[in-house]
Amino acid sequence: MPYFVVEGRNIKKEIKSMPGVYHFSIDNLLRDIREAKGIKSILLFGIPKLKDETASHAHRDDGIVQKAIKAIKRKSEGLIVISDVCLCGYTTHGHCGIVKKSPQPAVHSRQARDRNHGLLTFDYGLIDNDATLKILAKIALSHAHAGADIVAPSAMMDGQVKAIRDMLDEFGFQDAGILSYSAKYASSFYGPFREALGSAPQFGGRKSYQMDYRNSDEALREIKQDIDEGADIVMVKPALAYLDIIYRAKQKFNVPIAAYNVSGEYSMIKKLAGGDKIREKGFALEVLTSIKRAGADLIITYFGKEVIRWLE
Ligand code: PBG
Ligand code: ZN
Repeated sequence: MPYFVVEGRNIKKEIKSMPGVYHFSIDNLLRDIREAKGIKSILLFGIPKLKDETASHAHRDDGIVQKAIKAIKRKSEGLIVISDVCLCGYTTHGHCGIVKKSPQPAVHSRQARDRNHGLLTFDYGLIDNDATLKILAKIALSHAHAGADIVAPSAMMDGQVKAIRDMLDEFGFQDAGILSYSAKYASSFYGPFREALGSAPQFGGRKSYQMDYRNSDEALREIKQDIDEGADIVMVKPALAYLDIIYRAKQKFNVPIAAYNVSGEYSMIKKLAGGDKIREKGFALEVLTSIKRAGADLIITYFGKEVIRWLE
């Protein structure tokens, strides 16, 4: 069950594009978790006080996620806390990596000049993969230090699992696990989530680091690479339009496969059911069962709390 945590007190604010999903302050988050009996693990996303170019609020000891993890670990014994490790919720530009500026490639200069009213030079944003690895490792370490059982890198930077594993081991967190968002596609189904996190990219898109949905073999290469780098659990995301990828991953690899039933897949059912709880249950259980049937060992879904009730 994913949760969004914000600074403040006594906050429980519904996310417009995701009916039934909320921004919680830590006090109300603890209350909701207490009510969500049967949920064995949660995935935490934080909305920081401040965003900047380099996501500096993502790895502070007094950061929102770090504070939330500590509070949950103190109050909810036995609950497994998974923390999302990425930059996009913490950067002003909304990208999952550090943005570096470089000149427009010469080959485009003619068109660039035309577009740019005759001016020859202007900056061209690129993602700095290796600079991002250092920050991801710092974020993961700060989460493990706060008490996270499993960290979940979702930036799709090459080498992120190894960078995090090395850092965790170096500081004595050999027991912290890594759930890697290994095969994460550039998807239109993330829309509602980006509203929840305020993380829509301010320029360009995520296609240089998230996968092109026309590729399937590449997903298996990404998953293999993450397993080789030390991932304990690998993820396919989104789930519904990618059941074939889940199936192939399950056939090929002997590690737990997670599937993320993402925000757009959730909101789609909410819209279709139009508030009718019986229909909603029907849609959701059918869809979630298909993800299970395809081979997912773990399912991340905003229906988590309700599913527990339905299945009881
Ligand atoms: C990015 C991230 C995304 C989601 C979780 N972390 C996607 C994105 O913004 O590109 C999507 C989750 C959802 O849609 O439910 N690190
Ligand atoms: Zn991200």
